[in-house]
Amino acid sequence: MTSHDDRFVHYLRAKESVDDRALHRPTLASLIDRLEARAESRSGEPLRVVSVGAGTGAMCRRLLSWGVFDAHDEIKYVMVDRTRGMADHAAAAFAKWARAAGWTAEPTPDGFRIERHGRSVSLTYVTSDLFEAMTVLPKAIDLVVAHAVLDVLPLRRAVDALLSRLTDEGLFYAPITFDGRTAFRPSHPDDDAVLGAYHGTMRGGERAGPDTGSDLLSVLPDLDAPVVAAGGSDWVVHPPHDDEARIFLDRVLGFVEESVGESTAVDRATLDGWLEARHDALAGDELVYVAHNLDVLAELD
Ligand SMILES: C[S@@+](CC[C@H](N)C(=O)[O-])C[C@H]1O[C@@H](n2cnc3c(N)ncnc32)[C@H](O)[C@@H]1O
Repeated sequence: MTSHDDRFVHYLRAKESVDDRALHRPTLASLIDRLEARAESRSGEPLRVVSVGAGTGAMCRRLLSWGVFDAHDEIKYVMVDRTRGMADHAAAAFAKWARAAGWTAEPTPDGFRIERHGRSVSLTYVTSDLFEAMTVLPKAIDLVVAHAVLDVLPLRRAVDALLSRLTDEGLFYAPITFDGRTAFRPSHPDDDAVLGAYHGTMRGGERAGPDTGSDLLSVLPDLDAPVVAAGGSDWVVHPPHDDEARIFLDRVLGFVEESVGESTAVDRATLDGWLEARHDALAGDELVYVAHNLDVLAELD
């Protein structure tokens, strides 16, 4: 991994508490209800989950910690991410978390197995592009998790590929899907120019773009997976900031700098002036950041 990737891993770690606060609880409750019904109707079968763009596996740890899989005694959880070296960061994060949460862990040929209170979870990490992974994974997935990733993918093609591997009435859960609004406070005269350019950079190539959350609400039913629950999961980060929040906000400003810096939509002096004001506000513990996201849960027809 490069130092750029290391910074990204620190950002993902800092993002965990922001996501914890943001996740849309009614959508999560609907997921739990459906998993409970599934456990009852398919008693004795393991729950098979695949997480794409899994990063360091934060969502897997969160779902286990929050009891989302408690109706199932056996869970097979596969994480897919294309970034090399991410698997090692995930393994380290899982080892630390498992010890703290009282799970026993033992290595398996392709990952490790953790056990606690009669519940057994096999964890596998696959370093691969998700489109390639979907061609080799069997059509036996009960739940796909696409956490904070769909906006960088060709939306329809990605959703189609993921749905194609689901079992009957399989579930598709896309938490923290960006949906078009970024705001910082205190306000700055160049906010519209810089943030407009920032959203513009999300439109390049095959990327789903800044309105992915709303688009998902129509793409899923189009592909025979009606939305069964959805709601806002906005990131709202305000002072006073702890260390994690400062790391998170510093990286978000880095994303704006890297992406807008490469575009021609805003001149460098305007961008630099805006960034300086934002970093000053961060250092002075005054910076407010809001990003609008959606959590979406769909079920195959
Ligand atoms: C914003 S991060 C989110 C990580 C994690 N879901 C979280 O929120 O903590 C997006 C992740 O998706 C991965 N990714 C992007 N495109 C991918 C693709 N085509 N196939 C597999 N992984 C991909 C990146 O490597 C990155 O780790």
